[in-house]
Amino acid sequence: MAEFRLPANSVVRKGKTYRGSGANANAKSFLIYRYDPDGNDNPQTDRYDIELAQCGPMVLDALVKIKNEIDSTLTFRRSCREGICGSCAMNIDGTNTLACIKPIAEIDGVVNIYPLPHLPVIKDLVPDLTGFYAQYATIKPWMRTESPAPPDRERLQSEEERAQLDGLYECILCACCSTSCPSYWWNGDRYLGPAVLLQAYRWIADSRDEATGERLDDLEDPFRLYRCHTIMNCTKTCPKHLNPAKAIAEIKKAMISRR
Ligand code: SF4
Ligand code: F3S
Ligand code: FES
Repeated sequence: MAEFRLPANSVVRKGKTYRGSGANANAKSFLIYRYDPDGNDNPQTDRYDIELAQCGPMVLDALVKIKNEIDSTLTFRRSCREGICGSCAMNIDGTNTLACIKPIAEIDGVVNIYPLPHLPVIKDLVPDLTGFYAQYATIKPWMRTESPAPPDRERLQSEEERAQLDGLYECILCACCSTSCPSYWWNGDRYLGPAVLLQAYRWIADSRDEATGERLDDLEDPFRLYRCHTIMNCTKTCPKHLNPAKAIAEIKKAMISRR
């Protein structure tokens, strides 16, 4: 598994200021973390002033405008711009969220934008999620069965069984929750973190899955599960309004009831 580490150069200095075309006295300022792994400089925050009348309403619209019109070297991930792919997760105004569904109008004053915290930074706003995905793979995120599938139809669920997955299947693995969790910051190499644990519970709660015992065995560990100390940052920050802390509590309850 990839080793988690803080960015090598964690002192962030003040960088350059850019003004977009048509930016007047009422322009909105965006202070953005910049880190170039190919250079020798420490990270810096560059300031970009842009005219909001010529920009879409979301923070991602502003980033795209800056990249297209002011500074093509600015690097960030994005794909769906609909809050579905999870690519544009970053720290905006002190909170981990999705840039494509974060309205600029909700932020007073300067908009501060940093990469998701406590992950290695590949470039600018792009964190290295290798370790995060490796942890996800360890929970075997697919349906595991012993019994043969019905020959003529899918494995069915009742409406009640299906409802058990509500609040779980909507997770887009954006990592906003895990990177807001202090336990994950300090033990991210051994603690699975809220996103991966919510995904683990998604399969434990699935009536069609037949590996519940093995799944719980795999989590019965002082670090993988029990490093959650109910700090609740995860639930507070989730941009999809999910509740990973509750999913973790459900896993702990399942551990107790099987004893
Ligand atoms: Fe993102 Fe929410 Fe899933 Fe965490 S639980 S990965 S914050 S969608
Ligand atoms: Fe962390 Fe959430 Fe638990 S913030 S400690 S995973 S309740
Ligand atoms: Fe897909 Fe923001 S671009 S979630």
